Amino acid sequence: MTRGGTGLGHAMAQVARDIDHAFDLLLAIPDDPRRRLYEAMRYAAIGGGKRLRPLLVCASCELYAVDRAAALRVATAIECIHVYSLVHDDLPAMDDDDVRRGKPTVHRAFDEAAAVLAGDALHALAFEVLADPATHADPFVRAELCLELARAAGPSGMAGGQMMDLAASAVVMDLATVTRLQQLKTGALFGFCLEAGAIMGRIPPEGRTHLRGYARNVGLAFQIVDDLIDVEGSAETAGKAVGKDAAAGKATFVSHLGVDRAREQARLLVAQAIEHLSDHGSEADLLRAIASYIIDRDR
Ligand code: IPE
Ligand code: IPE
Ligand code: MG
Ligand code: MG
Ligand code: MG
Repeated sequence: MTRGGTGLGHAMAQVARDIDHAFDLLLAIPDDPRRRLYEAMRYAAIGGGKRLRPLLVCASCELYAVDRAAALRVATAIECIHVYSLVHDDLPAMDDDDVRRGKPTVHRAFDEAAAVLAGDALHALAFEVLADPATHADPFVRAELCLELARAAGPSGMAGGQMMDLAASAVVMDLATVTRLQQLKTGALFGFCLEAGAIMGRIPPEGRTHLRGYARNVGLAFQIVDDLIDVEGSAETAGKAVGKDAAAGKATFVSHLGVDRAREQARLLVAQAIEHLSDHGSEADLLRAIASYIIDRDR
């Protein structure tokens, strides 16, 4: 089976529906004072975003013919972490943003306390979903998923990258440091998405090198394009404010290389990512299509 643009569009729409459905079931609103927390979580998690990380999980699971229902649980878990990271990233203490996914940010629609708690609760929910026997019958597989997601989200991953990002305005960062920042901030969660298929498919670590290579390249390309959208994009299409990195004096690939060379770098990274899949056949077509989409996107 080959996947052109339409195949990718279909896969994205399907995953978006499945993730919305999963959150709808997980976040039934209780009839007690926790109601507002669940409402804030639903507001953040349902009905928005590209669902790229869930799609990557499904695509990596496709390589090893993992059951789709199980793959979707892992996909929901990584989206929980991603959404939590966005809710906290938008807080006044961090990027202080008013719009996300085309609507008011959670602290704007609710308040800061609700946004902090919604993020906290989504973070916990990710691990609850992974550790549930419904995700995989083998507890060792579930433990490895939890371990890898914790590593990807924590101080050696996303949270560490976010701390480096906060420092990016105050210091002069060279390109190597920006690369490391972006690998942690964005790349680590992408790494988990690819690793997840191999864990679920019981592929030993030595058989995952190509997936790590793909994730590294695609993660970096993705963040370069995010930085390009911040410079060249429109707030309406992106669904969030643009022009923020330059206003904050943040070092990015774009501030270092300029728009054209940054885009060229992203293109090279995507070509390399696809190269990493050369030992796979059509089962990797979705991963190939996602890699190409990442540099063509405008949101
Ligand atoms: C935005 O991620 C935050 C970054 C890591 C750059 P996405 O661009 O994937 O955001 P959504 O999920 O589509 O809203
Ligand atoms: C946020 O990066 C990345 C995470 C939330 C981990 P940005 O601050 O660049 O993301 P946007 O541009 O607000 O989506
Ligand atoms: Mg930020
Ligand atoms: Mg931000
Ligand atoms: Mg950004």
